[in-house]
Parts: sequence; C-alpha cells; structure tokens
Amino acid sequence: MKVFDDIVRFKDWRHKLSGPVGFVPTMGYLHEGHTALARRARSENRHVVASVFVNPTQFGPQEDLARYPRDPERDKALLKEAKVDAVLMPEAWDMYPEGFDTWIEVGGVTQRLEGALRPGHFRGVATVVAKLFGIVEPARAYFGQKDAQQLAVIRKMVADLNMNVEIVPVPTVREYDGLAMSSRNVYLDPEEREAAVVLYKALITALKRYEKGERRAGALRDEITRIIEGEPRASTDYVSVADARTLEEIEEIEGPALVSLAVLIGRTRLIDNMTLE
Ligand code: PAJ
Repeated sequence: MKVFDDIVRFKDWRHKLSGPVGFVPTMGYLHEGHTALARRARSENRHVVASVFVNPTQFGPQEDLARYPRDPERDKALLKEAKVDAVLMPEAWDMYPEGFDTWIEVGGVTQRLEGALRPGHFRGVATVVAKLFGIVEPARAYFGQKDAQQLAVIRKMVADLNMNVEIVPVPTVREYDGLAMSSRNVYLDPEEREAAVVLYKALITALKRYEKGERRAGALRDEITRIIEGEPRASTDYVSVADARTLEEIEEIEGPALVSLAVLIGRTRLIDNMTLE
C-alpha cells in the first residue's frame, strides 16, 4: 500500500492508473465501519484509495478538533489489511494553503438537524469532499449511512455540480449491543458506554412501532424522547422523523422516512439513525 502525504505526488501516481478508482474519505481513527466502506470499494473497483484527514473546517470553535482521536499507524495497518492501494494523509496547510478562499454551500438539506446545531459544519464537509474528489478523481465514493445527513448533502452537491462520481451508501456497522461504531465512542467511560446503547434501543422501538402500523411521526418522536430521557446519563439534542430525501420534518409517514437523533452521553455527542420504508 502506498502512503502519500504530498498532494502533488499523489496526483502523479493517480494519473498513471487506468480503470475505475473507488474512494473512501475518512478522518481516521478507523474502526469496522470505515473498513466496511473500504472492503465494499475493493469489491467494486480496480483501484481503491482512502484518505485520512481530520478536516479543521468542519469543526465548530467549541468542538473537539484538538482532541479528536488520532492513530495514523493503526489506520495504515487497517487499510492495508482491507487491501486499499493507496492512502492519502495530507497536511492541513497543504489542503488549506494561505489564501484558500473557495467554499461549497449546499442549501436546504444542510439547514436542518446537524446543520442547524453545527453552523458551518456541512460547508466544511462539502468543501473538503469536493477538494478530495478533485484530487482523487474517483469513479465511485463510499459513505456510511451512519451519517445520513452527510450522505444527503454529498449527493445533492454531486447532482447540483454535475460531478462525475457515483455515491455509494454503506449500511451502519454496529457493536455487539447495537451501538453504532464511531471514532468518538472512545470518549465514553465504561458507564457511559453502557448508557450509549439507549440510542439503538430507542430507534429499534420506533422501528417496531412503525412495523406494527404507527404512521404518526409525532408519536414516534415522543416515544424516542421518552426512552432517551429515561437514561440518566443521556440528554437529547434532537429527535427527528423526516422525509428521507429532503430531511424536512413530517407529520404522517407516507414515503421513506429517516428517524435520526443526536444525544449527549455525558459530554460526548452521538448520532444515529434508521430508515423506515
Ligand atoms: P469519519 O467520521 O471518519 O467517517 C468516514 C466515513 O465512515 C463516513 O462516510 C461515515 O459515514 C462512515 N462511517 C462512520 N461510522 C460508520 C459506521 N458505524 N458504519 C458505517 N459507516 C460508518 O464522515 C467523515 O469522517 C468526514 O465528514 C469526511 C466525509 C471524511 C469529510 O471530512
């Protein structure tokens, strides 16, 4: 596996390849969720490239950029094991040199949920993903359903800007007890880790009620909130039942709906979601 920290050198290597490149963008501290994306990319493309870059522009001033977990050596070992051909680990000054001043603002879908609570977050995500697409020139790029709103934002950007890349969604990989894998799970102490399963429990309860015929979005929101608030270490940031495509809140579930939530477990903010269809 090739390892590049230099963007120009990476591009030289990239331009010698023929055949489709599958691309897996990450912020590192990899787990089985990330490697599921890499394995899927491996099975569908002649070449596979991953990136590891903790993108400063998607973190708010009060967020965890400085303490975001990092372990580049372990990341390289896991990507090698997943048979990735090359990993790009650029430096922040190389991605955002002095004078960098071009931003991608996706409308509508960025205004709700994570976007409403984390102003500028999706502007940073869309901008860095567009840059990475420009560098890697992938035929396909792989994104986890764990970050359903991010997936919707990237799809909208690619459609609106006629980008030549197919966006491939990959199902959420979970721990044995249902907790969605996340690099941020390492922030949880043992009691918080146990409490964190409440997100999954709440989603499963909503899914079961839906399967039994409940179509009132408000009833599902209330039930989820009740379950989360029943866990002393948890407090809800938002609970949403929205149109799966536009992410607008709905009253009645008629088409595919996204149930999503953000919950604080102690000081750690976790997100999770499920689609009802
Ligand atoms: P990061 O949080 O490292 O996630 C990288 C990719 O892995 C994302 O597409 C995310 O949805 C996916 N992923 C994370 N946990 C997952 C899980 N449990 N199951 C399946 N997929 C999972 O998302 C980002 O980085 C950044 O915003 C990025 C797109 C790299 C732009 O900086």
